[in-house]
Amino acid sequence: MSRTLFVTTALPYANGPFHIGHIMEYIQADIWVRFQRMRGNTVHFVGADDAHGAPIMIAAEKAGRTPQEFVTEIAAGRAQYFAGFHIGFDNWHSTDSPENVELSQDIYRKLKAAGLIANKTIEQFYDPVKGMFLPDRYIKGECPKCGAKDQYGDSCEVCGAVYAPTDLKNPYSTLTGATPVLRTSEHYFFRLSDPRCIKFLQEWTRGANALGQPRLQPEVLNKAKEWLAEDETAGGKGLSDWDISRDAPYFGIPIPDAPGKYFYVWLDAPIGYLASLKNYFDSGRAKSIGGTAQTFAEFLADPKTEQIHFIGKDIIYFHTLFWPAMLHFAGYKVPDSINVHGFINVSGEKMSKSRGTGVSPLRYLELGMNPEWLRYYIAAKLSAAVEDIDLNPDDFLARVNSDLVGKYVNIASRCANFITKRFEGKLGDHDPAAAKLEHDSAFAQDEIGRHYEAREFGKAIRRIMELADAANQYVDACKPWELAKNPAGEARLHCVCTSALTLFRDLTIYLAPILPDVARQVAGFLRISLSHWSNVHTTLAADHQIGFYQHLMNRIEVKQIDALLGLGPEPAAAPAAGATPPPSGAAGSHISIDDFARIDLRIAKIVNAEQVEGAAKLVKLTLDVGETENGQPRLRTVFAGIKAHYKPEDLIGRLTPMVANLAPRKMKFGLSEGMVLAASFPDDQGGVYLLQPDSGALPGMKVK
Ligand code: 2FM
Ligand code: ZN
Repeated sequence: MSRTLFVTTALPYANGPFHIGHIMEYIQADIWVRFQRMRGNTVHFVGADDAHGAPIMIAAEKAGRTPQEFVTEIAAGRAQYFAGFHIGFDNWHSTDSPENVELSQDIYRKLKAAGLIANKTIEQFYDPVKGMFLPDRYIKGECPKCGAKDQYGDSCEVCGAVYAPTDLKNPYSTLTGATPVLRTSEHYFFRLSDPRCIKFLQEWTRGANALGQPRLQPEVLNKAKEWLAEDETAGGKGLSDWDISRDAPYFGIPIPDAPGKYFYVWLDAPIGYLASLKNYFDSGRAKSIGGTAQTFAEFLADPKTEQIHFIGKDIIYFHTLFWPAMLHFAGYKVPDSINVHGFINVSGEKMSKSRGTGVSPLRYLELGMNPEWLRYYIAAKLSAAVEDIDLNPDDFLARVNSDLVGKYVNIASRCANFITKRFEGKLGDHDPAAAKLEHDSAFAQDEIGRHYEAREFGKAIRRIMELADAANQYVDACKPWELAKNPAGEARLHCVCTSALTLFRDLTIYLAPILPDVARQVAGFLRISLSHWSNVHTTLAADHQIGFYQHLMNRIEVKQIDALLGLGPEPAAAPAAGATPPPSGAAGSHISIDDFARIDLRIAKIVNAEQVEGAAKLVKLTLDVGETENGQPRLRTVFAGIKAHYKPEDLIGRLTPMVANLAPRKMKFGLSEGMVLAASFPDDQGGVYLLQPDSGALPGMKVK
């Protein structure tokens, strides 16, 4: 029976660009989501920016922006990462949204009605110059124990002592330098210490998901048990009530009937998962794209809906205690699984949450490095355990070059061209001697599927590479290049290449959740559907016509890794969409043939061209580049800045070269999936002229 899944990743603070830790989490969840879709399950995969809180309010002020302007600017930078790393969120929203206000206030009111909100007066440091209560991180002073200067309000970095900000000697506000004064204020608390909450969480944390598996990983459950243990001898103190209010000025959601009080950012942040989902449903896209006709409320109330969160190990407390309790006692659906991952280090160096590591994801894209290299490497390192993983440059290079390119791509590059050149692109009979190999390959799908389901991506890749090894041994033993030399070997050449391409097809299906773009290209050249897990059981018929094989993936070069880590000169490369292009080549600078080969130039047929309402310069082109998807032609949309130079109707039917591997770019009017080529002088003086191939060229042909 097919499943309906609502999947999220942790909402990133809207105060800076993504670091490699964010990208790792998005890649992990995206792979899992793509796998679920290949199994025929319905998935709604959403995210949002975590916009509220004092740090963002203060950062906005420093930047001379309102908090709303500040988070909107940050949000505008997100799409380039998603397009660049093939991360397919169905919706990206913000916690600073009407949906989140409505849902947060509703949940609060229901918790209050359930008797789970308490008011208490607390004493806190206040900055009299700034006119605001100070979060602990904005207070510094001398350590009460060892006297070290400039220590934070909660612990001493010199002697390790832990204390309250009020214990500091000579405290000062890091915002103004003023001496903070103690002031009282009424705060609102979620009564997590209530026996009902403890009882519910004891059950929920030990519960199972829809597949009957524990909803928490063993190490996560142990943590939760520790926190929940009321008995101090068991190592826990029980749960304390949770302070959910902050005083104005605060960038957040107002608490109903409490003037000047706002929800603490961590109250409304996870509700942002639901806000993004609601926004997606209310816009009609859950139906038109996701195929779910229910309303948001119906979807959440449906017992079939599974709610699954991917998060990092630093925010387990919020997601295993506060979040399910809030939802349960407000009468909302509770999460089915919380999937926790560790951190990513680079060359063994720990990452700082605010600064990331030495590897910038945007720089990776700017250098023209293939996003699927990183997806593959991260997948190879991931397991279902809460373990840190290490991005090690030598290991990265070795795994991509020897496994992905050397083993997987190698099978197609050794066999596909024989089919095209010697057999008019038609497959032949399968090699009887490869029957067992083909059978074993197709029947590995259960095992590999179980690994994907369990997020054991490293194990899935190990099994896939075993199959790739077996396929390569087969090709090595049959030596198609030798068979091709001798006319008597013709029939055998045909069936060896047919069987080898069948094995390659299976590997592509197994790798598709990790390498979606490679899978798209392979589906195009093999002219078959690879979008369903069960496609491994479709026999490739003799006479099946395939298209031209184009090289699928280059090897990583050491100089690219050096440039990524800031160790050497920057190699020339095609800029990724949305990225800053490298400085335009100074006169006389050269690129290598390999650099040129990275640009996938292909002939496209303009099957439709139309004006874009509200766009001054753009024409919307629909292009046939000879690709198929699910057996249907797959057309691409490209927005071209040629409105002043061409009437759309004059363009229909023409052929033109396009850059087919330009990272898709989200524009105001839709997604642009490539670029057509035109000639012009700077500033378009003298006109703009679309390039056109000589007659005889066909859509999909490579320009080289
Ligand atoms: O730790 C963080 O980066 C938070 N912004 C995560 C929030 S996850 C969810 F609760 F919104
Ligand atoms: Zn100290």
